[in-house]
Amino acid sequence: MSLVVRRARASDVENIVALLGPYIERGELLPRDPSEISGTIDHWVVAIEGNKLLGCGSLVAYSDELSEVRSLAVVPGYRGMGIGRALMEMLVEVARGVGVRRLFGLTRVVPFFIQSGFASIDIVEIPEKVWRDCAPCPLRDRCDEHPVMLVLSNQRPGRQAVPADGRGGNRNVPK
Ligand SMILES: CC(C)(COP(=O)(O)OP(=O)(O)OC[C@H]1O[C@@H](n2cnc3c(N)ncnc32)[C@H](O)[C@@H]1OP(=O)(O)O)[C@@H](O)C(=O)NCCC(=O)NCCS
Repeated sequence: MSLVVRRARASDVENIVALLGPYIERGELLPRDPSEISGTIDHWVVAIEGNKLLGCGSLVAYSDELSEVRSLAVVPGYRGMGIGRALMEMLVEVARGVGVRRLFGLTRVVPFFIQSGFASIDIVEIPEKVWRDCAPCPLRDRCDEHPVMLVLSNQRPGRQAVPADGRGGNRNVPK
């Protein structure tokens, strides 16, 4: 299988919508409107073999430093072959590139996220998610999804890492 994982393009939207459709109908993934996918296509990644879309995933920003992995899905029949992991690796790379420090998911497939380096957390650690999506959700009292988090950087914005030998770093950082 010659798989290509890349940033999504406008021409991928139709195939993304088709891939997500059955998962959304079964309530396994949150609904995504085609126009919303088009408008956020820079935040999506896809896995392609030949001309066939085999998987997709997206980042949803909650602040400059906090994003969610959402709508990560692989075509049935191609699951368990490493495509989900490859998509997650690219999402993490994209998130790092735009300065995201904490990446979370709300999921029923916790083992997959753990394999990708995430850790289980308490929902209180992501109040931004609760306020925006959980509070108005009709399923909030019987939610079967679990919050997970991958910390990409413990640095506060505007600070540079100081090497282990204590030299260097950002000399302009106020003490
Ligand atoms: C979850 C999903 C994206 C994973 O993609 P995938 O291509 O099947 O996963 P991979 O083959 O890359 O698996 C990576 C690792 O996670 C594990 N894993 C994947 N799916 C798992 C599951 N449902 N339960 C337990 N472990 C799972 C694999 O065993 C593998 O571990 P290993 O390297 O130790 O063997 C895919 O199964 C899917 O589309 N599920 C339906 C939609 C969904 O629930 N998405 C998650 C939204 S939060």
